[in-house]
Amino acid sequence: MSTILVTGANGQVGFELQRSLGAMGKVIALTRAEMDLANEASMLAALREQKPGIIVNPAAYTAVDRAESDREPAMAVNAAAPGIIARWAADHGAFLIHYSTDYVFDGTKAEPYREEDAVNPQSVYGESKWRGEEAVRASGARHAILRTSWVYGHHGSNFLKTILRLAQERTALNVVADQVGAPTSAALIADATRTVIERIAASQAPDGLSGTYHLTAQGSTSWHGYAAHIVRTASAEGFKLALTLDALKPISTVEYPTPAKRPANSRLDCTKLMERFGIALPEWQAGVDDVVARLQPAKD
Ligand SMILES: NC(=O)c1ccc[n+]([C@@H]2O[C@H](COP(=O)([O-])OP(=O)(O)OC[C@H]3O[C@@H](n4cnc5c(N)ncnc54)[C@H](OP(=O)(O)O)[C@@H]3O)[C@@H](O)[C@H]2O)c1
Repeated sequence: MSTILVTGANGQVGFELQRSLGAMGKVIALTRAEMDLANEASMLAALREQKPGIIVNPAAYTAVDRAESDREPAMAVNAAAPGIIARWAADHGAFLIHYSTDYVFDGTKAEPYREEDAVNPQSVYGESKWRGEEAVRASGARHAILRTSWVYGHHGSNFLKTILRLAQERTALNVVADQVGAPTSAALIADATRTVIERIAASQAPDGLSGTYHLTAQGSTSWHGYAAHIVRTASAEGFKLALTLDALKPISTVEYPTPAKRPANSRLDCTKLMERFGIALPEWQAGVDDVVARLQPAKD
């Protein structure tokens, strides 16, 4: 298999991709210092040097609230860079795997979102990721855009680790209960990406696999339900918690204002990905339990 180039090597998904793709052949994972998505010359130099046949692009400006007052850098990394990478891929016959987000939707749909549903991003981050998707589609490159949600992992900063820390420090905590979605582990995203690459490499007609796919764990919960599950699992794993489940209070979005507006419904229908690539997606609790178990509490 030809060289696989992974961007954002230090990110949650970038880190897990190095594990999951490692056995597939030559994988080059580049950090921001080695391939800066805010700098066209840096991107093109890395692509020219590595000449990848497959490019996997999890690097992104992911500070959702900061992006509201930092529009230009968010647009450079999330909207412009994917287009530059995709045009290089189109010119050199490479396949591009790119990641996007549930935040391209406004969250007003009652059911899980399907790939073809109308987008209506409510934040600068959501808009920047939508523009990135559109740039990839317009490039003519063979591609898979994988939209995911509520990402967490053993490596990096995320909601799961924040709740785990706060549950050890605080005796009371309020968490939003009127936004629903599927917590999705970076490991699951990386493993599904590997299957996508394997199917594309084995396909007689890889062009037919180009498109946009939803990729999340199955089932759904609110941020409050997610936090409660983390607390229950951590307690069972032997973490010494200051917080009890009774003291974990559900609140509404209006009681927890943030600079960026988030969708009330972040649920994504993943049927297309499961059917086209034969991927089985686990319930969201499985990945949370794995990561909490790996973040072993300090032993006395
Ligand atoms: N996190 C979520 O909840 C979530 C939800 C839905 C979709 N997604 C999407 O899933 C993908 C992976 O997300 P993630 O959670 O793995 O993100 P992450 O942990 O925040 O990692 C993002 C990575 O991008 C890198 N990066 C930022 N600016 C860069 C630049 N100018 N040049 C090169 N690299 C740059 C960061 O580098 P540094 O390490 O140097 O900062 C970091 O390693 C992204 O496309 C994201 O939009 C994420």
